[in-house]
Amino acid sequence: MHETSPIELLFGGMEKLGPGSNADTLKVLNMLPKRPYEVIVDAGCGAGRQSLVLAQQLQTRVHAVDSHEPFLTDFLQRAKAAGMENLIQTHCMDIADISNCFREVDLLWSEGAAYNIGFPHALRTWYRAVKTEGIVVVSELSWLHGQVPAQVREFFRSCYADMRSTNENCSIIQDAGYDLLDMYTLPNSAWIADYYDVLEPRAKALLNHADESVRVLAAETLEEIRIFGCAEGSYGYVFFIMQKV
Ligand SMILES: C[S@@+](CC[C@H](N)C(=O)[O-])C[C@H]1O[C@@H](n2cnc3c(N)ncnc32)[C@H](O)[C@@H]1O
Repeated sequence: MHETSPIELLFGGMEKLGPGSNADTLKVLNMLPKRPYEVIVDAGCGAGRQSLVLAQQLQTRVHAVDSHEPFLTDFLQRAKAAGMENLIQTHCMDIADISNCFREVDLLWSEGAAYNIGFPHALRTWYRAVKTEGIVVVSELSWLHGQVPAQVREFFRSCYADMRSTNENCSIIQDAGYDLLDMYTLPNSAWIADYYDVLEPRAKALLNHADESVRVLAAETLEEIRIFGCAEGSYGYVFFIMQKV
């Protein structure tokens, strides 16, 4: 990758590429039906933080899918350092193609990545990859209540106009052919620790970068962090735990 790649400059080397934490991944994992999960796919794994938690906890190989090769390279180094490379298999491919490559999946996990191909589309296309009664866990940015500050509403009008309420996402899940088993909303701390508190100083340091696209990404990131600070809990990442009917 070119050394001035905006994504690499801002996110390179980070363990968390979105809100979340090992404790929250474990909490959600413990909400699943207790049974063997043999075929596990992590869609949009990034640097693989949650893949490692799943693999370690279930002692089962995780197929970690992402289209950004540098994140996977970084991930494999972490897996090796943790002595877990035998439990991780990376696949550099589009998460939209998962159903072409995987069948009879017992557990399809995706933290903060499904929106890239559209939450409804992700659920429909992954349906074919999952075995009957298989479990799908997706975290999706959702409106949590109706009292949204005007500047927050305005920000998401351009950044994520398709963002839906939790109830609307529940309907999408049902329409896609899943039973909703449970939900869990990430606490604010999971956005800040090791994510916004790493990104903010990095973004500030890049505001005067020579490359305009780097400056734009840095400014957008700082605006996202500012909006989070005045959101009054109006949105959050909701984990939807589903079972294929
Ligand atoms: C916000 S990051 C979340 C990464 C990781 N799940 C985490 O929580 O740290 C989204 C990830 O999805 C990946 N991604 C985005 N669109 C993708 C696509 N169409 N196919 C595969 N990976 C994709 C990005 O490369 C990135 O690693």
